[in-house]
Amino acid sequence: MTVDAAAVAARWAVVRAEVDAAARAAGRDPAEVTIVAVSKLHPAAAVIAAVAAGAGDVGENYAQELVAKQDEVGGAAPGLRWHFIGRLQRNKARMVVGRAALIHAVDGLELAAEIDKRARTAGVVQDVLVAVNTGGEAQKTGVEPGEAPALLAAIGGLAHVRCVGLMTMPPWPEHAEDSRPYFQALRRVRDELVAGGAALPHLSMGTTGDFAVAIAEGATLVRVGTAIFGARPAPAP
Ligand SMILES: Cc1ncc(COP(=O)(O)O)c(C=O)c1O
Repeated sequence: MTVDAAAVAARWAVVRAEVDAAARAAGRDPAEVTIVAVSKLHPAAAVIAAVAAGAGDVGENYAQELVAKQDEVGGAAPGLRWHFIGRLQRNKARMVVGRAALIHAVDGLELAAEIDKRARTAGVVQDVLVAVNTGGEAQKTGVEPGEAPALLAAIGGLAHVRCVGLMTMPPWPEHAEDSRPYFQALRRVRDELVAGGAALPHLSMGTTGDFAVAIAEGATLVRVGTAIFGARPAPAP
């Protein structure tokens, strides 16, 4: 698959400018907002094009794809931070632990314990986010908002997992504003946990259609794919 590196660079510049503008409009420092360029289903060459344009963080949804692409990109992008943003099956945790700078969607203690076990073996402490299903959709990953404190407390007992924030994926928005209540819900969960003494600096929320709203509501990590890489190719049959 050929990659139009100039088009990726141009789109990256637009997204970075929009992210910076959204941060300033919210009275925030643009440096507080990291763009995770979601490269799911796009080839390694697209990742390299995004890095050349300024991206320092990329996101993948599938464990095998993360491993293969990270190996392929390799030395072409030293220092690039890879994020695992998809639902992680327990039996795939060992593939991702240590490779991902941040695992965004921990949705239960069994997965957290598996990550802890794999991280201990690898001699690392794995940073994670707890996924919260703010929209209550059956097909979406994440714990119910009311379950987050107990999961956070349990993760606190794992020596090789460190929870640094929360993530959410709201119902598909027809308009960007549709996502606002879900982003506000995530922030409320975070604020309550912080009031109880937790250190949770990160909120991962916002995609191509609604990242400006997410930034207004406090996102520190926006996961943007289509606006940077164009439409995702169909998965291999
Ligand atoms: C969890 C998650 N976040 C963000 C994205 C990026 O979405 P978009 O291409 O609309 O920016 C995806 C895409 O699959 C995703 O699964």
